[in-house]
Amino acid sequence: MKFFIDTANLDQIKEAQALGILDGVTTNPSLMAKEGITGHDNILKHYKAICDIVDGDVSAEVVSTDFEGMIKEGEALADLHPQIVVKVPMIKEGLKAIAYFTEQGIRTNCTLVFSIGQALLAAKAGATYVSPFIGRLDDISTDGLVLIEDIRTVYDNYEYETQILAASVRHTMHIVECAKIGADVMTGPLNAIEGLLKHPLTDSGLEKFLADYAKGNS
Ligand code: G3P
Repeated sequence: MKFFIDTANLDQIKEAQALGILDGVTTNPSLMAKEGITGHDNILKHYKAICDIVDGDVSAEVVSTDFEGMIKEGEALADLHPQIVVKVPMIKEGLKAIAYFTEQGIRTNCTLVFSIGQALLAAKAGATYVSPFIGRLDDISTDGLVLIEDIRTVYDNYEYETQILAASVRHTMHIVECAKIGADVMTGPLNAIEGLLKHPLTDSGLEKFLADYAKGNS
């Protein structure tokens, strides 16, 4: 499973990259705003800065909601850097835009996906990635992981090449369960990724090894 970090914070992206396990970055307009990155030019500069840190795919989201606007924006984003994947919302115009980008060889991430039907449409339009938001489904008492399982089944039934990018991941168990289900990618915050490192038996075991080593050397 590929690991993407879901942030626009450059320090956190550098920290995740330094772990040696990072495969890419996802952002969205809210994550950009959270870092105080506003205005078209600053946002484009920020995408470039992210691409300079990581080797993998960097999702950059369009903010137009009409087909023409999405195409113009998406083409400009794709021209910005070869690592950019154009992120497009799952709306009617977005679906048309994904099909167009697929024709043009521009890679896409279909975002704001909350149902199997939406995921099916994204795959048929040729999206590179589909982003089901599992945390936001959990927020409304609907099991987000069940959606990942169902999309896995449907995509496997027809051998769709669209990669399932589990998004809105909030904690370590989301990551573990996504890996068990067979999501292709997960995108989550740094604390969820680093949470996978933790085990009390590792800590107590290491403490004992170091204490025993110190005895032998005293
Ligand atoms: O990857 C999608 C993500 O940015 C949304 O996460 O936590 O705002 O639901 P969240």
